[in-house]
Amino acid sequence: MKKIRAAITGINGWVPEYRLNNDELATMVDTTDEWIMQRIGIKERRILKGEGLGSSHMGANAVKGLLEKTGTSPDEIDLLINATVTPDMLFPATANIISDKVGIKNAFSFDINAACSGFLFTLEVGNKFIESGQYKKVIIIGSDKMSAITDYTDRTTCPLFGDAAAAVLLEPTNEDVGIIDHMFRVDGLGRHHLFQKAGGSVRPPTHETIDAREHFIHQDGKTVFKFAVSNMADYSVKMMTKHNIKPEELAWLVPHQANMRIIEATAKRMGIKKEQVMINIQRYGNTTTATIPLCLWEWENKLNKGDNIILAAFGGGFTWGSMYIKWAYNGKS
Ligand code: UT7
Repeated sequence: MKKIRAAITGINGWVPEYRLNNDELATMVDTTDEWIMQRIGIKERRILKGEGLGSSHMGANAVKGLLEKTGTSPDEIDLLINATVTPDMLFPATANIISDKVGIKNAFSFDINAACSGFLFTLEVGNKFIESGQYKKVIIIGSDKMSAITDYTDRTTCPLFGDAAAAVLLEPTNEDVGIIDHMFRVDGLGRHHLFQKAGGSVRPPTHETIDAREHFIHQDGKTVFKFAVSNMADYSVKMMTKHNIKPEELAWLVPHQANMRIIEATAKRMGIKKEQVMINIQRYGNTTTATIPLCLWEWENKLNKGDNIILAAFGGGFTWGSMYIKWAYNGKS
C-alpha cells in the first residue's frame, strides 16, 4: 500500500493595514532608512493597531479566508494547530480562540512555541497526524503580533519585526507530492541570546520587570546572526544532498525572513540563484511564525504541482531546520 502523506492543499495569509516604514522608525529611535536597508533589508513592516486585538485576530482572519478559498466548512476540520510566540494570553491557547472565532467545533486545537521555526515544527506535527490515517483535514497557522513584545526605544531590535498570520490546509494524498522530509534541531543554550526576560513562571510580571523593560525581545544580534547563517545553510544543503536535489532542480527556497544577508548567504551556500528564493522581507520584516507561509501565499500562483521546495528556518531557542516538500497543486487554478 502506498504511504499516506500530508499535502498543503490551500493557503491564505492576512496582514494588518498599518505600514510602519523606516522613516517613521527614524522618528522613534536613532536610525536611518539607509542603515536598515544595508544591514537588514527591511523597508516597512505591518503593525496591528486596535484595542483588544492580538494574534488570534490575525490567525482567525487567515483561517476564515482559507476556509472560503478551499470551500471547506468549519465542521470538516479535525485539528487546528497554531504556532506563535505572542499568544493572546498565556492560557488558554490562541488556537482555541481562533477555533471559536471561525466556528470550528468538531476538532481539537493547541499552540506550539518554537519561535521562528514554529511554522515548520508545527507543519511536521500536522503531517504526522495526517500520516496516522485518522485525520483528514488539519489547519496549521503561524500568527504573531511581534509589535506586542518589541521595544520601540531599542534601535537594535525594533526595525526587525512585524505582525502577520498565515494558514495552510493539510490533507492526505497518495500521490508523489506533499511533505517529503524534515530535519530539525534545537540548542537550548541559545536561550541566553534571544529571549523575553520576564512574564513567565521564572520572572512573573512585577512593577520592577516592567520598569526594566523586561517584557520585550532581548537579542544578542551578532551571535544570533552567526548561528542563523551557518545552521540554516547547513540544514538546507543537507536536505538537498540527502534527496539528491541539484540546484537547478529546486523550484524554490522559502527561507525564514529575518535578515536579507542571512537569506543571501543561505542561497549562496546552496548554489541557487536569487530568482529561486522567495523574499518579501522588504515589505513585512520578520513576522516570526508567519514568514514562511506568508511567502508561499504570495507566490501561490507561481507554484506548480510537483515543484521541489525547501523551507528553512532559524530562531529563538535556538531552533532550526529544513523541510522538503513537493507542491501539490497548480497555484494558478
Ligand atoms: O528570527 C531569528 C532571529 N533574529 C535574527 O536572525 C537576527 C540576527 N541578527 C541580525 O540580523 C543583525 O545582527 C542585526 C540586524 C540585529 C544587527 O546588525 P549587525 O550588523 O550585527 O550590527 P551590530 O549589532 O554589530 O551593530 C553595528 C553598529 C553598532 O554601533 P557601534 O557600536 O559600532 O557604534 C550599533 O549600535 O550599528 C549600530 N546599530 C544601528 N545603527 C543605526 C544597531 N542598530 C542600529 C540601527 N540604526 N537600527
